[in-house]
Amino acid sequence: MTALIFAASCSGGKGDTPPYMDPSLDVDKRVSDLMKRMTLEEKIGQMNQCVGLNHIDESQAGMTEEDLMRNTAQAFYPGFMKEDIAQLAREGKVGSFLHSVNIGEANELQQLAMESRLRIPLLMGIDAVHGCALVSGTTVYPTSIGMASTFEPELVYISSRQTAKEMRAIGMHWTFAPNVEVARDQRWGRVGETYGEDPYLVSLMGRAAVKGFQGDEGLEKDLVLACAKHFVGGSQPVNGTNGAPTDISERTLREVFFPPFRACVDAGVQTFMMAHNEIEGIPCHTNAWLMQDIIRKEMGFDGFIVSDWMDMEHVYDLHRTAVSVEDAYAQSVLAGMDMHMHGPGFVPAMLKLVEDGTVPVSRIDQACRRILELKFRLGLFENPFFDTTAVHQTLLQEEHVQTALEAARKSIVLLENNGILPLTDGGKYKNVFVTGPNAHSQGIMGDWTFPQPGENVVTFLEGLQMVAPKTKFMFLDQGESIRYMDPEKVRRAGDMARRADLSIVFVGEYVNRKDWGNKTSGEDVERGNLNLPGLQSELINNILSSGKPCIVVLNNGHPLAVEWIAQQADALVEAWEPGMQGGIALAEILYGLVNPSGKLPVTFPRSAGNILSVYNHMPSHFFHPIVMENPMPLYEFGYGLSYTTYRYDNLTPGEFRDGTLEVQVDVSNTGTVAGEEIVLLYMRDDYASMTRPVKELKAFTRIALEPGETKTVSLKISQEQLKFWTRDRGWITESGTFTVMAGDLFAQVTLP
Ligand code: GLC
Repeated sequence: MTALIFAASCSGGKGDTPPYMDPSLDVDKRVSDLMKRMTLEEKIGQMNQCVGLNHIDESQAGMTEEDLMRNTAQAFYPGFMKEDIAQLAREGKVGSFLHSVNIGEANELQQLAMESRLRIPLLMGIDAVHGCALVSGTTVYPTSIGMASTFEPELVYISSRQTAKEMRAIGMHWTFAPNVEVARDQRWGRVGETYGEDPYLVSLMGRAAVKGFQGDEGLEKDLVLACAKHFVGGSQPVNGTNGAPTDISERTLREVFFPPFRACVDAGVQTFMMAHNEIEGIPCHTNAWLMQDIIRKEMGFDGFIVSDWMDMEHVYDLHRTAVSVEDAYAQSVLAGMDMHMHGPGFVPAMLKLVEDGTVPVSRIDQACRRILELKFRLGLFENPFFDTTAVHQTLLQEEHVQTALEAARKSIVLLENNGILPLTDGGKYKNVFVTGPNAHSQGIMGDWTFPQPGENVVTFLEGLQMVAPKTKFMFLDQGESIRYMDPEKVRRAGDMARRADLSIVFVGEYVNRKDWGNKTSGEDVERGNLNLPGLQSELINNILSSGKPCIVVLNNGHPLAVEWIAQQADALVEAWEPGMQGGIALAEILYGLVNPSGKLPVTFPRSAGNILSVYNHMPSHFFHPIVMENPMPLYEFGYGLSYTTYRYDNLTPGEFRDGTLEVQVDVSNTGTVAGEEIVLLYMRDDYASMTRPVKELKAFTRIALEPGETKTVSLKISQEQLKFWTRDRGWITESGTFTVMAGDLFAQVTLP
């Protein structure tokens, strides 16, 4: 019905539908016909994105005039009011909106576009990073660092597909995900939204996300555009602070940071987002080497590139490699940028730059074509509106919630256990004290989440109460905001711990986007160390001083310096940000209903002083290690305990045949409970013409094993995976011996 109304309104009646409105024509013809009808200003309008009108209202509410002029993170368009932006949409000068997080607004915005001369529908973008979690009432999965801890790309694929369906149900067409940056600075506030420090794991997860969001073979009409971000290197910034310079070699860029983006391109990703940072003095947002030579020529990307938030403007007002905002726009668009995020100043500025010959019309046509093509392929011209009556059949479907629970169960990593775990409900510990700022809050869901209905979220405390009904849980609420913990409550925790049989403390970070100024981590928030912020350490120490058993659970996105807790607590669990079902999953693990199986996708250094701290380091990394403290990581990539034990035997690398090596290893469950083991296969190039990492993940799989059961695992490695980059010879592999590693076993193999 909607489509018929829309088509008729375009043609002013039956029979004279313009070709671009004819779905029987191929997309290329429709794009060409439409562009012939567009003015230059309308073409530039397609390159422009604005923030959702309701978000403008909500974020600017209560801001002072000065705030409005200064704060680009939340104030939006000084001098423009909501109605002015609406009018720009009516005039076809906005091609896309983002941060439209109220269900229903997408239709209101599309209606504005339907009033424009050519009625080009809007592309609605949103940060659906672990579910469409900025929108209330959606399914919220574990954040990406937890998804990576499952080492199960299929879970990322399934949750991404489910997210795509929930997005389209509310009129969203484009997610700014996956974030496929390789996290190599544990201080960085955004580690939680990445798949960790290993390029191979990040690549497989990114590929799974793209196919989940977009479809198995390219873009499916009823799914969404994915966005490979942020290109590139912002996950190893100076001092770990978001947007700071990245100073790394081209070799590291090519061997570590580029591969996951290449994997996304090979999976058919249709959009890229550039990174905030500069590399070698050139902001990524004006870097033609990155946007043209690497992304398009080397990787073969054929979609469109969007800027990150006000980063075109930051070329002028931060990096100062442009003498004006207009100069920044020109440099960025000429370097390959196709869409501006965000705001009304772009269109008039770009129009002037084209009219004065600074930017050729051909560049505008190229960008506009890329954007329009995807709007046609998403079916937006036939159906710009979403069906408001069908929303609640799709959001929060039982199947989606079950996926969130399964992912949470597999994402949680057991770091220490002196035998106290698993607990028995109604057993030895009948009175359990529960406290900590993350014990009973929506912090369980991590960053890129706006408040969800309480009934949709199972907090850690609620999960314990659900899973262990025979146990009396005494809860002391420390409040959510970690920066402002109450010393009296922190002191009282010691008293309550003394009266209990056992304490369970939930600590970590505070990433509430609605309380931006009080965050301790997450986007744009980093600290100078990895210690627990606020009075959390005092809280744990008060509880430990009770002399009673104590279990510490971490709810965080980036690794924390927890050596002292590991040494003193009876158990230490990394829950990451396990999503809306995380409370159940964590409780099931503590009470032994689920055997923990997650492994760390990122290394835990003992302190921030050890950074750079990655498992795939070069041989000389510890040549002269730091002194007077242990220089080795506390927990390395791939670490994770279980309630059972596993033994590896008979690691047998075959021989390279037709460029493939098949490696077999026997894995046995030598304990008393069933479990799932993630088998990680690493390789080392023993000697080469350039330094090579001491180990690199090359294959992995997850296997279920009953007590006493042994399985022979067979994993394949392609010779292609052994290549490395050289400045003068490009990518090469060299014959010679390689060491293969799995579990505690080593074996050698020769590449002829
Ligand atoms: C932010 C983030 C980016 C996000 C965008 C839109 O600055 O860097 O990841 O997609 O803005 O919210």
